[in-house]
Amino acid sequence: MDKRIAVCPGSFDPITLGHVNLVRRAAGLFDQLIVAVAVTVDGEKRHSFSLDERVEMATAACADITNVTVESFCGLLVDYCRRQGAVAIVKGLRTAGDMAYEMQMQAVNADLAPEIETVFVLASAQYAHMSSSMVKWLNELGVDVSSYVPDNVAARLQAGR
Ligand code: PNS
Repeated sequence: MDKRIAVCPGSFDPITLGHVNLVRRAAGLFDQLIVAVAVTVDGEKRHSFSLDERVEMATAACADITNVTVESFCGLLVDYCRRQGAVAIVKGLRTAGDMAYEMQMQAVNADLAPEIETVFVLASAQYAHMSSSMVKWLNELGVDVSSYVPDNVAARLQAGR
C-alpha cells in the first residue's frame, strides 16, 4: 500500500509546544507527516523569525518524532501537497475563532484540490489558549514562556529580549 503522507502547514513563528503536541498526535495517524513552514503567509502578517530560523527551530523540536520531516514551502498549499503526494492537510483548532477561519481555508482548498482531505485536530486543553503571537508578546514583556515553547525556542526568545 502507498505511504499515507500528510502535510501540517503553518508559519511556526516560532513553533510552540502546542504545535509539537499537534504534530506528535497527527504523526500517529499517518505514515509520514511533513511539517511545512510557509515562506510567506496570507494576509498582513509579518514574520518575527527568518525562514531558516523557523525551519531550524521546528526541526529541533520535532527531532524525536521519527516519521516527521520539516520542510519549507512557497506558494499555493495544495500544489505543494500534490508535489509531496500528500492525501491530507492537518490543521489544529484551539478556539471557535480558529474554526471559523479554518473552515473557510478548508473550503477553498477543497475547491482547488478535492482529493486532498483537511483533517482537524483539536488542541489539547493545556495549549488551547496559547499561540506564537501570545508567546512572543509575553516574552517581550519579560514573562518566562519556557512552559509554552520547546527549550531551543525558549533560549532563542530569551536571548532576543
Ligand atoms: O500558522 P498560520 O499563519 O496559521 O499558517 C497559515 C498557512 C501558511 C497555513 C496559510 O497561510 C496557507 O495555507 N498559505 C499557503 C497559501 C495558500 O495555499 N493559500 C490558500 C489557502 S485557502
